[in-house]
Amino acid sequence: MNKTFPWYKNAVFYELNVRAFYDSNGDGIGDIRGVIQKLDYLEKLGIDCIWLLPIYPSPLKDDGYDIADYYGIHPDYGTLEDFKALVDEAHRRNLRVITDLVLNHTSDQHPWFQSARTDPNSPYRNYYVWSDTDQKYKEARIIFLDTETSNWTWDPAAGQYYWHRFYSSQPDLNYDSPELKAEIFKIIRYWLDLGVDGFRADAVPYLFEREGTNCENLPETHTFLKELRTYLDQNYPDRVLLCEANQWPEDVRPYFGDGDEFHMGFHFPVMPRIYMALRSGNIAPVKEILDRTPEIPPDCQWCTFLRNHDELTLEMVTEEERQWMWQEYAPDPRMRLNLGIRRRLAPLLDKDPRKIMLANSLLFTLPGSPIVYYGDEISMGDNIWLPDRNGVRTPMQWSNSKNAGFSEANPEKLYAPVIDNPKFPLSEINVEAQINQAGSIWHQIRSMIRIRKNNPGLGLGDLNWLPLPDSGIAAYTRRFKTETWYIINNLTAEKKTFNIPADWAIPQNAVEQLTGTALDTLLTGKFNEITLYTYQFLWIKVG
Ligand code: GLC
Ligand code: CA
Repeated sequence: MNKTFPWYKNAVFYELNVRAFYDSNGDGIGDIRGVIQKLDYLEKLGIDCIWLLPIYPSPLKDDGYDIADYYGIHPDYGTLEDFKALVDEAHRRNLRVITDLVLNHTSDQHPWFQSARTDPNSPYRNYYVWSDTDQKYKEARIIFLDTETSNWTWDPAAGQYYWHRFYSSQPDLNYDSPELKAEIFKIIRYWLDLGVDGFRADAVPYLFEREGTNCENLPETHTFLKELRTYLDQNYPDRVLLCEANQWPEDVRPYFGDGDEFHMGFHFPVMPRIYMALRSGNIAPVKEILDRTPEIPPDCQWCTFLRNHDELTLEMVTEEERQWMWQEYAPDPRMRLNLGIRRRLAPLLDKDPRKIMLANSLLFTLPGSPIVYYGDEISMGDNIWLPDRNGVRTPMQWSNSKNAGFSEANPEKLYAPVIDNPKFPLSEINVEAQINQAGSIWHQIRSMIRIRKNNPGLGLGDLNWLPLPDSGIAAYTRRFKTETWYIINNLTAEKKTFNIPADWAIPQNAVEQLTGTALDTLLTGKFNEITLYTYQFLWIKVG
């Protein structure tokens, strides 16, 4: 293929939970064969790359982020043969597949940990971080604030404390052990040989611990990650490493290195600010965070998202902003979790299609490769009565039939109940109904994906804000080679009319791409005056 930029720079990702997607054998749990059966759907939606949540054997105390065997598939989901078939079938459709790589910790059920804790002379003892006291690394924060009181847990069998940044059932691995590091290389080789197109590397800031630091983003961590990248470049070019570092932009920046560490990194802080902008009708918070986002090397790319499988994290906002976000978006305490909000996109935005599409307009036109979280393309609801983050991981809704077409099992047997309530009726919120309805959220998102893919300017172009006296209108250009986009979003519920500043230089025959309408017909009749209705947005392309 003759390409001028790496594939991930202009790709649309789709995050999918195998458990939740489609149940092929009627046991009530989604599985890999189920995903294979739905690849045609994903192809039709137009995405480029699937990100699979963890599929390894696991006691599922953290939905698979607690791995008990890095070389297998959870029996609920199928077999390695199934997995290979998934990769092959995806590739046949030009879809790529990346998997979750959990580097920081294992499950406490992992045989390494079981051996380590019961035998001080075990070769695996040093795979984990032990201490006689729980007083070390006091400056490291606790992440799962609602459940954990310390990053140390006493293990009676080991006679020592072990270190963990997440649940106490997830002991941290010790990256000071050369044997452990060698093991990690073996793991990535194994999956790359099975054909995966890369990894979403989980929780990377926490790999090393050093006294006197907050044990995040340490130089040793970057050295190790660069070794991983070198190995990938030498042996598996064209695969991607995506960094999960929930940090400020200036702290994520080093994870790109000089283009020799991660190819991609999530942009966490921009996400809550999109919700702030929508609720306050003011683009300022988004603009501020993007203005303070450092340049990244040319072959690197940000990954952006509106929602994912976790709580909508409010770690990267000020205390005041967090309180405001909770008040606005999570009035019921059950909607809150740790420092975040465990709700889906549609409920957060009052299930208002205009707001949902406006949020997507920002997602698809601001810098970064966007990720769509499964179910959000049909504005699925959530279930705040389920524990932990399970309320945003319920079965995908395929049709208005039994179990939403997700499974043939008895409804009681489903791993989680389907969402069907007066506000989010299954009859309306399902793939089949939305495909059959022109103008549905599904169709609108699909159009955005298509436009985005056909126009590299939205993925690769530079960003320039267009100053307007009214910060309720977010206007900016994206430019790449001869392609220029004028993106204009009305963040407010009010009708807005403004004069196009002369220096914008938009020819009147330029076309708004979502509607296919020429600019001159969008103008109000008065010379160069644009009117935007409530939450309306325009994607105007020149060149
Ligand atoms: C990441 C995952 C989250 C998980 C945590 C611990 O933040 O997104 O779901 O609980 O890592 O592995
Ligand atoms: Ca199944």
